[in-house]
Amino acid sequence: MKILVVGSGGREHAIGWKLKQNLSVELYFAPGNGGTEEIGENVNIKINEIDKLIDFAKQNEIDMTVIGPEAPLTMGIADEFNKNGLRVFGPSAEGAKLEGSKTYAKQFMNKYDIPTAKYDVVTSIEDGLNVLEESSYPIVLKADGLAAGKGVIICDNKEQAETTLRDILDTGIFGDAGSSVVIEEFLVGKEVSLLCFTDGETIIPMETASDYKRALDNDMGVNTGGMGSISPSPYYTPGLGDEIAQKTLHGIKSEGIDYRGVIYIGLILTPDGPKVLEYNVRFGDPETEALLPRLKTDLIKVMSKTIDKQLAECNLYWSSDKAVTVIMTSKGYPDKYDVGFDITIPETKSIAFHAGTSKVNSDSCNKVVTAGGRVLAVTALGESFDDARKTVYQDVANIVFQGSTYRKDIGVVV
Ligand code: AMP
Ligand code: GLY
Repeated sequence: MKILVVGSGGREHAIGWKLKQNLSVELYFAPGNGGTEEIGENVNIKINEIDKLIDFAKQNEIDMTVIGPEAPLTMGIADEFNKNGLRVFGPSAEGAKLEGSKTYAKQFMNKYDIPTAKYDVVTSIEDGLNVLEESSYPIVLKADGLAAGKGVIICDNKEQAETTLRDILDTGIFGDAGSSVVIEEFLVGKEVSLLCFTDGETIIPMETASDYKRALDNDMGVNTGGMGSISPSPYYTPGLGDEIAQKTLHGIKSEGIDYRGVIYIGLILTPDGPKVLEYNVRFGDPETEALLPRLKTDLIKVMSKTIDKQLAECNLYWSSDKAVTVIMTSKGYPDKYDVGFDITIPETKSIAFHAGTSKVNSDSCNKVVTAGGRVLAVTALGESFDDARKTVYQDVANIVFQGSTYRKDIGVVV
């Protein structure tokens, strides 16, 4: 079976690694990274080059394409693949609006009685200032569209909120993504990522995970794409998010959305119960690198059943082990950093998923070098978080590249 995975991060390497456990699989990655090249063939097509991806899938008789990132999904890649009779794992553009437009997502939650923070949507400074006048602080401002993970700003006071509002609506720091702004109540609680498979008829929650967004230990420093993750979330009681998952499915069905993929429900566990902070329409990164090593079920089967709308026939089985994933980054990330440094990875007990790496192949050398901010996602399993932490940090200490930086507190349960 030939499978094409679209994307180039640690998430896509982890998806490929899991798919590859089925020995019948031949993998292709577009564009992939230094690690995916070890388990498949990297194809030099970008994630937004939908026509080229379709041509490639047709010419190479790809049986199934798995879309990693959100951007091509919001552009309608799944719709185009479906139109061309190609099997694809990922929601339609209509479904991808749950991530692509925060206004749409909030309206969806309201319509289907899904608990979430109270909010207003504004498109003008004047309306925004009126809302800010009536608000208590801190408050959260969100650019409506995709903003590379930077579109959510927590403002401690009115002055900061006013400046942020002007930055988004007037100055246009997020471009079109900021043509409207969601202003929402600040919620407090532990955050849990509840990823679910859905085929639009059935929804099956996976085990939970949590990511570590801040750059520095003890959740200090700026927000990043993710500095680590753990699975399961130690704060989550199984079943807690089931009602929200079912209501989400009900909404998807009622809206007539073709949704065959993963819906990632970003939960916050407040004193008033779990609420939805956000939806993502794909696997999370780096949650996937902690989740998939715990999944015992054949991922190809789950994805195929999802595409065929037969997910009801699937059960998911999980290892009871705990997983800890440490992201090794290039010094300076998420701001400026240098790339091109040699990476040495010795034999490890952990799994070293590649993210920002590339392979240099020539007659004289064959090596892997750094090529991005998040370089590797290193995952260990253990009977306890402490066991997994011990293993992962021993291995991380032995993986060498210039400027390697990582948090030391991933998996410390407080
Ligand atoms: P993003 O993943 O970029 O949508 O940003 C979401 C992050 O911003 C969440 O993981 C939270 O940490 C934070 N956040 C978003 N909405 C709220 C809210 N209403 N209250 C508190 N924190 C929030
Ligand atoms: N880990 C957060 C995300 O994938 O958006």
